[in-house]
Amino acid sequence: MKIAVFSCKPYDKRTLNEANKNSHIQLQFFESRLSEETVSLAKGFDAVSCFVNDQINENVLSTLASYHINCIALRCAGYNNIDLDTAQKLDIKVYHVPDYSPTSVAEHAVALILSLNRKTHKAYQRVKEGNFALEGLLGFNLAGKTVACIGTGRIGLAFIKIMQGFGCHVICHDPHPEQSLIKQGIQYLPLDTIYQEADIISLHCPLTSETQHLINHSSLAKMKDGVMIINTSRGGLVNVQNAVDALYQGKIGYLGLDVYEQEGALFFEDMSETIIQDSVFQLLLTFPNVMVTGHQGYFTDIALSHIAQTTIENLESALNGETNNRQLRP
Ligand code: NAI
Repeated sequence: MKIAVFSCKPYDKRTLNEANKNSHIQLQFFESRLSEETVSLAKGFDAVSCFVNDQINENVLSTLASYHINCIALRCAGYNNIDLDTAQKLDIKVYHVPDYSPTSVAEHAVALILSLNRKTHKAYQRVKEGNFALEGLLGFNLAGKTVACIGTGRIGLAFIKIMQGFGCHVICHDPHPEQSLIKQGIQYLPLDTIYQEADIISLHCPLTSETQHLINHSSLAKMKDGVMIINTSRGGLVNVQNAVDALYQGKIGYLGLDVYEQEGALFFEDMSETIIQDSVFQLLLTFPNVMVTGHQGYFTDIALSHIAQTTIENLESALNGETNNRQLRP
């Protein structure tokens, strides 16, 4: 079985080759994302493997089907970038890696909270320059703060556990409440109540038509002044233009983003010598109370090796005509 591996960085190549040591699968690595422009690279392969910003739309899927490719192994948990209806119609099996390391993303959300609050990134620079003044570094105690978790799946659960350790009061919203949290006495509340009560809101739900731009003018207006918003899920959950307006008004006091709606044009590449053609993104970076990281929530040693191992297992399942519970259906 020959696999075209798209969006492949050196670290992906290392971990996939390691995971593939004892398998008969042949991997060929491409740095390019899979899109309408690059899909021809997949000709002659039996399957493709893709990542978060590959654009697997109807046209790409139809072209893959015309090459007799009937398997796509995503190397990520989220699958908002693939048209699952069309994949099913074309009989293309799609796999993802649902639980490679929920704690890696949860811990990154907490890193954003701690950095925005205690301003360790600024303190680090100051001390390097011999500036030991504390003015401008004032933080707040997390203990006693109300933290809302929107989406209590695998990552949300890991996030809640950490925030409970800090002594926070955790509240949640999810259309499918998790019984273990209810047993602990954690409340599931309607979104409007969440917005009214939360000091910190962390997003851990998938991007769907229902959650797109969940954070917008109308939801922001219902939140506490100075609220902290953390998004490590998918960029499309936040209307960034509306968030910028709320930053100007002081409605948002802190904004931590690991994902960005237009990240496909920026993230995972070194753009340091380039003029970034995204004025909203550039504006975002000018706020002292905004921290953006480039979709690195998942990026830990354990997560990378689990992603690689599960991707190889998914490809082997497809090769052997087996189904597994990581196969996605619309
Ligand atoms: P999961 O599937 O275990 O949990 C998602 C939860 O969101 C479920 O409990 C579901 O019921 C809930 N949900 C669905 N619609 C909702 C809505 N309208 N409002 C509130 N909750 C809703 O997924 P997991 O593994 O926890 O991942 C969550 C998201 O994190 C993924 O969809 C992905 O977008 C993102 N992610 C980000 C990474 C990063 O590197 N920054 C890495 C991995 C995942």
